Amino acid sequence: MNLKLKIWRQANAEAKGEIVTYNISDVSPDMSFLEMMDMHNEQLIETGEDPVAFDHDCREGICGMCSMFINGEAHGPDRLVTTCQLHMRKFKDGDTITIEPFRADAFPVIKDLAVDRSAFDRIQQAGGFVSVNTSGNTQDANAIPIDKHDADKAFDAATCIGCGACVASCKNASAMLFVSAKVSQYSLLPQGKVEATDRVLNMVNQMDEEGFGNCTNTGACEVECPKGISLENIARMNREYMSASLKG
Ligand code: SF4
Ligand code: FES
Repeated sequence: MNLKLKIWRQANAEAKGEIVTYNISDVSPDMSFLEMMDMHNEQLIETGEDPVAFDHDCREGICGMCSMFINGEAHGPDRLVTTCQLHMRKFKDGDTITIEPFRADAFPVIKDLAVDRSAFDRIQQAGGFVSVNTSGNTQDANAIPIDKHDADKAFDAATCIGCGACVASCKNASAMLFVSAKVSQYSLLPQGKVEATDRVLNMVNQMDEEGFGNCTNTGACEVECPKGISLENIARMNREYMSASLKG
């Protein structure tokens, strides 16, 4: 396939960015999107140009690093996949593909398509953990019966990979889907109930401090989430937050 790529280039956080147009030939439909980007970067390097900076690590939908806005959609036109799982067969010969970074005030651009998502790390540090008594009297987690329905919901929430597509897709750059997945993952399990009150208050406060916007229940986050995280997690987090605020 021969394609036209329109890619956001920005030298650093302070520089003014712009869309730069490139042509790329001989792209195989079997390539992954990132392999196409690698091929493009090899061509840039051969001609002495600066390669396009973009994040990636696992390349199998696990790490959440490959955050790109492709033709106006986080992770591109496919559903329930990350950019690294997107294949070029989703595009046609002659297509123009516009590739931009995830945009949000809380995700400043580092360079080109790479953005700083450490705001998510700070939200996790504010409460995305359980404290375990390691005195030697710790109860084996497998010995605690858990309702199958709750276990399934907790597992679904735990599949969030922290990619930030929910923020990038939201007109308010809200992080509610991400934070609610992290809150739900613990609040549904007995191990997470001990710190549940502090957790939801601290994580939501940190989310607000980082400058993410409010949720207006549009649902774009759920549509673009590569892991299918449900809006019901936001409803659960709101209930948890309300009840924690009344206790506090
Ligand atoms: S909720 Fe979905 S879109 Fe948001 S960070 Fe988690 S996996 Fe990514
Ligand atoms: S590179 Fe890890 S999810 Fe895409």
